[in-house]
Amino acid sequence: MPDRYAVIGHPVAHSFSPLIHGAFARETGQDMEYVRVLAPLDAFVVTVEKFRREGGRGANVTLPFKEEAFRLASRHTQRASAAGAVNTLRFEAQDCLGDNTDGVGLVRDLRDNLGRAIAAARILLVGAGGAARGVILPLLDEAPRELVIANRTAARAVALAQLFGRSVEASGFAALIGRQFDIVINATSASLAGEAPTLPRGLYAGGALAYDLMYGKGETPFLQQASDEGARVADGLGMLVEQAAESFYLWRGVRPATRPVLDELRRAL
Ligand code: ATR
Repeated sequence: MPDRYAVIGHPVAHSFSPLIHGAFARETGQDMEYVRVLAPLDAFVVTVEKFRREGGRGANVTLPFKEEAFRLASRHTQRASAAGAVNTLRFEAQDCLGDNTDGVGLVRDLRDNLGRAIAAARILLVGAGGAARGVILPLLDEAPRELVIANRTAARAVALAQLFGRSVEASGFAALIGRQFDIVINATSASLAGEAPTLPRGLYAGGALAYDLMYGKGETPFLQQASDEGARVADGLGMLVEQAAESFYLWRGVRPATRPVLDELRRAL
């Protein structure tokens, strides 16, 4: 029987993860299968345990269970602890390892796919929820010149920045007036509602990149506004593929090529 993996979420029907991991497995010659598992909202732990009993070797965890997955894991990687959330579980003899590959997925997309040096860049991270928290430590590990977290509710940005010490600055939106950044990352859920955070104009330095963690057909309102201001834009599809590649590496010890899958997904959107 091939080794079994799954993406566990609610909803999970539209997840691209089976397609991505299927392509990785073919490319690297790994004998494994990867399925979608819908967990009832009140039965995440039971669902994971059942999958594990039935031979599951590991799982990706998606919304809304990433914090619950953190509590379920018996040990954590440093980046999962910093994120306070887990998107990757690896079932081991005694333990259940919880990792979070979202942030490194973002870093690899920015650095390797989009050619953006993060070291020495001025980075603005917009949002202070779970999505923002998940990417902070991997961004800091690249030694940016500045990392500013800005949130509509400034107090949440302050609380989040405090978790990471003095290397992170916190701000509301209005206090950003007059500042400039090389990379502006939208980690709010505004795009889901068809909205853009009401950022002041003029935040983009020459040649700056605007990055939305969301992806889909067409540009989000945040990316449209950034485009209008002359910024380069990218959505989170590359991050999706890169976080999957890092999970795959954690499970299988092999690094798949990501570009062919990213191109295929882009065509399929
Ligand atoms: P997630 O886990 O996706 O990060 P969350 O914890 O609910 O979700 O956080 C949502 C984030 O999106 C918050 O930073 C929220 O800002 P507030 O803390 O001020 O609520 C932000 N957000 C959602 N809709 C927004 C909008 N229309 N404009 C600006 N920020 C928005």
